[in-house]
Amino acid sequence: MSTPQGPAATGAFDLTDPALLDDPHGGFARMRERAPMVRGTIPGAAAPVWLVTRYDDVKTVLGDTRFVNDPAHVPGRGAENIREQVIRARGIPPEYARYVLDGILDADGEDHIRLRRLVSRAFTARRVAELRPRVAEIAEDLLDRLPGAAEDGVADLMEHFAYPLPITVICELVGIPEEDRPRWREWGAALFAPDPAGFGAVLRDMVGHIEELIVRRRAAPGDDLLTGLVHVHDEDGDRLGDAELVTMVLTLVLAGHETTAHLIGNGTAALLAHPGQLALLRREPELMPRAVHELMRWCGPVHLTRTRYAAEDVEIGGMTVRRGEAVVAVLAGANRDPRVFDDPDRLDITREPDGRREDHVGFGHGLHYCLGAALARQEGEVALAALLRRFPHLALAVPPGDLPRQPLPGMWRLARLPLRL
Ligand code: HEM
Repeated sequence: MSTPQGPAATGAFDLTDPALLDDPHGGFARMRERAPMVRGTIPGAAAPVWLVTRYDDVKTVLGDTRFVNDPAHVPGRGAENIREQVIRARGIPPEYARYVLDGILDADGEDHIRLRRLVSRAFTARRVAELRPRVAEIAEDLLDRLPGAAEDGVADLMEHFAYPLPITVICELVGIPEEDRPRWREWGAALFAPDPAGFGAVLRDMVGHIEELIVRRRAAPGDDLLTGLVHVHDEDGDRLGDAELVTMVLTLVLAGHETTAHLIGNGTAALLAHPGQLALLRREPELMPRAVHELMRWCGPVHLTRTRYAAEDVEIGGMTVRRGEAVVAVLAGANRDPRVFDDPDRLDITREPDGRREDHVGFGHGLHYCLGAALARQEGEVALAALLRRFPHLALAVPPGDLPRQPLPGMWRLARLPLRL
């Protein structure tokens, strides 16, 4: 069994390499063709990880319970050690580690099921469908104001639409007061900044803020998700502990807006850069759900999953992941795997799943499949439909290749999206 050598001197693909940040899909294609798994270094990981880029292998990593999210569940490995290393690598103040590392995304087995059950009811297809009119109303309000935000006819869609829409939706759902929402926007930006120097301070502010909200909800319950979670915690602390409650709120609000904003941004930019596809969608608006699906595949904002750890030796595509080794699923690699998608680099909003597969993995796969996928898709559909309807002559204000991006490994995010209205 051979270990494939990456291009760098260390033998590993460095995900912070500017060439890879500039052209992640090209880089993932090279990894995908080289071997089922390649070595990679990513910020925040304690050691080099295995990067898995082929569609079937990605589904194996995410669907096989021999891979765990919490290193403590690797038998006989210095799990505490891995945890310590992760805390150091990510610059997390140790006293706040439980808020970062003990959330739903890091839980396995019964713990994971327990946490997911507490919130999944709020995100079912039916509950999400009930929110649709409100999402549309928020979108229309923001678009009413968009021309006023333009200078010389050019407005930044990220600032005035793509961010405010999902942050308003998730904050209303969770129960974050309006006056606190701008802070969440800032915290999100700081946490995802390329230099995580301020990580500890931001975390302290966020945790303090959530604890304060919990006290307020206890005194004055509302009909939001936070009130429900506080109630579960107070009635039955075994089902939802102190730190778990805070972490759940933190996860939902951050995961609920940071990603969706970039689906709206990336999706709008992709359509405007493909006039044929845009014209087709304008002509046949009923294609919208399929278009959002294809945009998730083609330019989904999340390129990598959380790290998984092998709880025992596992074979992936004929190579062996040894017990305790870390694996990261490259969703963006799987989503352009020519083994599954014809002409994978082409954006085609009429693309149909081939019936054998459940299609793209932009929302992950398996037990940790995105809890908010239905909500995110709906927000994407409502946002793009309203935007295209309200602005029939919408155009990019700069060539697609010049759109400023946030150079973050594992993500595809625009820093600004200047549009001519
Ligand atoms: C999990 C992507 C929107 C909440 C995930 C995962 C991915 C993902 C890839 C799995 C990560 C892994 O397995 O390591 C996205 C994208 C979104 C989006 C691309 C937008 C376009 C949302 C929204 C919410 C949300 C709106 C709102 C609640 C969550 C939660 C998890 C999750 C709570 C963890 C689920 C678990 O561990 O069981 N998301 N997400 N996401 N997402 Fe999303």
